[in-house]
Amino acid sequence: MIHPALKSGGPPPHHGTATPASFASSPPTPTETGTLAREILDLKLALNAVILAHNYQVPEIQDVADFVGDSLGLAQQAATTDAEVIVFCGVHFMAETAKLLNPDKLVILPDKAAGCSLEQSCSADQLRALQATNPNFFTIAYINCSAEVKALCDVICTSGNAVKIVESVPADKDILFIPDENLGAWVMEQTGRPMTLWRGNCYAHVEFRRDSLLRLRKRFPEAKVVVHPESPREVRELADIVCSTEKMITYCRTSPDRQFVIVTESGIIHRLEKECPGKEFICAPTFDPLQLPTDGCRCNECRYMKMNTLEKLRDCLKNRNPRIELSADILARARQPIERMLSLSTGKTKPS
Ligand code: 13P
Ligand code: SF4
Repeated sequence: MIHPALKSGGPPPHHGTATPASFASSPPTPTETGTLAREILDLKLALNAVILAHNYQVPEIQDVADFVGDSLGLAQQAATTDAEVIVFCGVHFMAETAKLLNPDKLVILPDKAAGCSLEQSCSADQLRALQATNPNFFTIAYINCSAEVKALCDVICTSGNAVKIVESVPADKDILFIPDENLGAWVMEQTGRPMTLWRGNCYAHVEFRRDSLLRLRKRFPEAKVVVHPESPREVRELADIVCSTEKMITYCRTSPDRQFVIVTESGIIHRLEKECPGKEFICAPTFDPLQLPTDGCRCNECRYMKMNTLEKLRDCLKNRNPRIELSADILARARQPIERMLSLSTGKTKPS
């Protein structure tokens, strides 16, 4: 439930449900949404497809998905699905990960242009050059990178398992953590393990500011502050909990508290409201260089995640396109560090 104060005037720092960017001019009517959803479900059955959606997807995509979750949960689902076709509603690197785990399956996505600022910050050539400076580097890649970059790494991690993955690395290795400097810094704080950090960041999460969060805390003193680790340190320091999007859902569902300030992409509010009835969620506003102070209604949206629409999802099922295609070499080399992550996440093996 949305906080009542936010529905009735005042400068609202929140809205409950994200407006899909691509429908901003003419959002589909409930009838159109219903028709599209039925078409999608029919096509899905005909293709024996599974729809996997990230927590940041627009509500109507989440509502037709077979599984909605964080990067780790989605990779785990992709690794175990029996479906012949995987439809990935998230961003490009996530669909690539699904393909790496299912080289013989058709993996399609609604919009191939749905990228990620973290992925863009680290090319394979740049990484190779840095790795060449220290033969003792053990490279851990946050899953938000290309398959070509994954192929150069020892193990992959997500925000849900980064601490566990770092703790599993032999003590005599020098860890190189790519490409998110904020997640990397948070993991260093948690583990005490020094690491060399790649200087990349999530353009959406670095827009959160300490001063506006402090003002929000004053306005909602009972609220717990829930922060994604891609956020800057000054923001993480104000958190009651720092965690992945899936852990945010579990935390808010199981907490005895009733009110939460959510510091991540606003798409997650849909699941929070569905799974935590009677609780109140307040989106932290983002920095706006033209309209300081940062207390207006500016929920944070990832422009890449919001490229996907229900219409594009229907079309990709209809056309079996756009699809993910990777060379045999990349498929072979990039799969290993992902499998290593998946087995470490279940606690079965250690990297050598
Ligand atoms: P998680 O959902 O794994 O926490 O990651 C957030 C994210 O930014 C994905 O791009
Ligand atoms: Fe990438 Fe940030 Fe968008 Fe996630 S929210 S896909 S890290 S740009």
